[in-house]
Amino acid sequence: MNLVVVSNRVSRGKANEPMTGGLAAALLPVVEKSGAIWVGSSGRVRDGSQKEPFAEIEALGAGALAMLDLPAAHYGGYYEGFANSALWPALHSRSDLIRASQEDYLSYREVNAFMARALLRFQKPDSAFWVQDYHFLALGAELRDLGVTQPLGFFLHTPWPARAVIEGVPHHRELIEAMLAYDLIGFQTGDDCENFLDYLQSELALEVADGCVASRFGTTRVAVFPIGIDPEKFAQQAAKALSHPDVSRLRRSLHGEKLAIGVDRLDYSKGLINRINAFDRMWTTQPQLARTVSLLQIATPSRGAIEAYGNLQNELAKLVSDVNGRHGEADWTPIRYLNKGFSQTVLAGLYRTAQVGVVTPLHDGMNLVAKEYVAAQNPDDPGVLVLSKFAGAANELDTALLVNPNDIDGMARTIAIALSMPLMERCMRWEAMMEKLHASTIQGWFADFVDALQQSQSDPCGPEPLLAEPPAPWPLRSVNSGVRYH
Ligand code: F6P
Repeated sequence: MNLVVVSNRVSRGKANEPMTGGLAAALLPVVEKSGAIWVGSSGRVRDGSQKEPFAEIEALGAGALAMLDLPAAHYGGYYEGFANSALWPALHSRSDLIRASQEDYLSYREVNAFMARALLRFQKPDSAFWVQDYHFLALGAELRDLGVTQPLGFFLHTPWPARAVIEGVPHHRELIEAMLAYDLIGFQTGDDCENFLDYLQSELALEVADGCVASRFGTTRVAVFPIGIDPEKFAQQAAKALSHPDVSRLRRSLHGEKLAIGVDRLDYSKGLINRINAFDRMWTTQPQLARTVSLLQIATPSRGAIEAYGNLQNELAKLVSDVNGRHGEADWTPIRYLNKGFSQTVLAGLYRTAQVGVVTPLHDGMNLVAKEYVAAQNPDDPGVLVLSKFAGAANELDTALLVNPNDIDGMARTIAIALSMPLMERCMRWEAMMEKLHASTIQGWFADFVDALQQSQSDPCGPEPLLAEPPAPWPLRSVNSGVRYH
């Protein structure tokens, strides 16, 4: 099989360059090894006068990376417009932030159609296409319109919301009907999958049996494939990164003080305001913790041309400054706040340095930072993960300290508990989480999806439909197994 992977953003991923978002970072190592062609945006635009879409192609491991210049007239309406001002807020259940114009929708469809035409160049008789994320909901239908008959798969990296929320997106019916051109649709969690199937049944009056649905395009299988990381590789990177100058400078600057870390794109779904408020509450209600712990919050600017993101950046900068002004001392800054990106190597070292990882999104598809924080820990003295129960990762990492990101007092108390957790409990929780990370790696995710895609046309519903496994309650898991991974 000749696999063609498609996503809006691609990564050339040099270990020492800042990483560009979860999806691209996660895909790079597996696509590289698989020999697939990875097609995405070059980040540049050009006018539509050329007959052929312009693609810059370079080797990527055993395969290739093809970066396309997207049409200038439609890029804004597609990326900042429909994808990130209508779909993104809806997918993260922020109906209040949905902004959609007819022009943006048309641009979104134009870019999907443009990408479909561009992909024909990479088509072979034994090709299969695997499309990533909400930028390309209609790409499968565009490919079918061009006569492509090969297997088409789609994976959504974000959550899929309740029916009433997705119905707030103009043209939702047309778009979701178009999604049924895919032979296989993958979600991060059982809840996402159920929400999607509920829409198909209630809004489109389609019958669903064993996760399979028939439409005018044929049969589509809908299943859960939680994305993972390579925990071994990340752990090795983290141990090595301790000697990286950026990491050793940070360690020296702490003077024995504890560190909590948050690493996020600057996005309203990440719960950053609530997190800073929780630290504020903690230092207010437990003043003895001042000077004993600081927060390193990395918030990488993102989608800055969209009003909601600009507003958030201003609000957050003001809040951090207020909190620092209130709790800080001449020789102590409670929150170290940085608006830039870091390489994966440096991040791994920063995670290992921090005694607490705070990953508290209001809603998140998976959140790979949570998994990376766990994998980066020193097995003899692991840190504690404080994790939002609304991140997809909470289904697997259920021995983290799970919090409701809307409960500021609860988060403040939980962060304080994390800071004083005894070594034995930290080890037990961490070992249970490492077991989960090893059971569900990025390599396994990739292989499972590609296998299911390969059999999607011959045996659409497979021998056993993939359904979400209910999380095993802790401490019933073998947390005392003593298994060490390092
Ligand atoms: O799933 C959402 C996602 O694609 C993430 O994988 C990634 O972190 C982010 O969005 C990237 O967003 P953008 O390409 O707009 O910076």
